[in-house]
Amino acid sequence: MTTQTPSSGHVFWLYGLSGAGKSTLAGLFRAELCARGVPVLALDGDTVRSGLCAGLGFSDEARTENLRRSSEVARLARDSGLWVVASFITPLESHRDLITRIIGAEALSLVYLDAPINTCQSRDVKGLYARAREGRLAQMTGISSRFEVPGQTDITLDTGACSPEACVARLLSYAADKLGSH
Ligand SMILES: Nc1ncnc2c1ncn2[C@@H]1O[C@H](COP(=O)(O)OP(=O)(O)OP(=O)(O)O)[C@@H](O)[C@H]1O
Ligand SMILES: [Mg+2]
Repeated sequence: MTTQTPSSGHVFWLYGLSGAGKSTLAGLFRAELCARGVPVLALDGDTVRSGLCAGLGFSDEARTENLRRSSEVARLARDSGLWVVASFITPLESHRDLITRIIGAEALSLVYLDAPINTCQSRDVKGLYARAREGRLAQMTGISSRFEVPGQTDITLDTGACSPEACVARLLSYAADKLGSH
């Protein structure tokens, strides 16, 4: 009997403010990877918080635990040969350091989605910014909870100015050498 070593995957960790476009780009990017026959696990903040991390709040500590669990799942999936498209706000540099420690820098691409907070507020897809402005939502990232603009990223996508399609094309071009023969 021959044993097969699974080819190693890669983790793309999309992060940025609420409304920056993480879930939108994760969905488009995942579809492109699937079309190339790449096995993908999608991990999104909202999905994770409805199950694996249900009950965790939005303090710095709770966000850290949410991201610790999620990056452990990403590592397990990647070690099993899956590609992972993760989409989480990931507001602090210490969070990005934690994820890098757990997953390993070689296996991880930190993808910063850069959109001005005013743009994100005007999109307000979930109505969260309006609720925060009215004082009905505490610990809203960018309003009453810190978001640290990263000093260094593997790739930055200008989701404030460019279309989703243009951003995904740029991400695919960045990922080309990792995709290899896929
Ligand atoms: N370049 C772009 N990339 C992604 N989304 C964009 C872009 N330009 C405009 N948008 C729009 O911005 C909105 C982003 O919403 P989305 O739910 O993806 O944000 P999010 O970062 O996942 O927010 P949250 O953290 O609240 O889940 C969508 O309505 C999308 O169509
Ligand atoms: Mg989202």
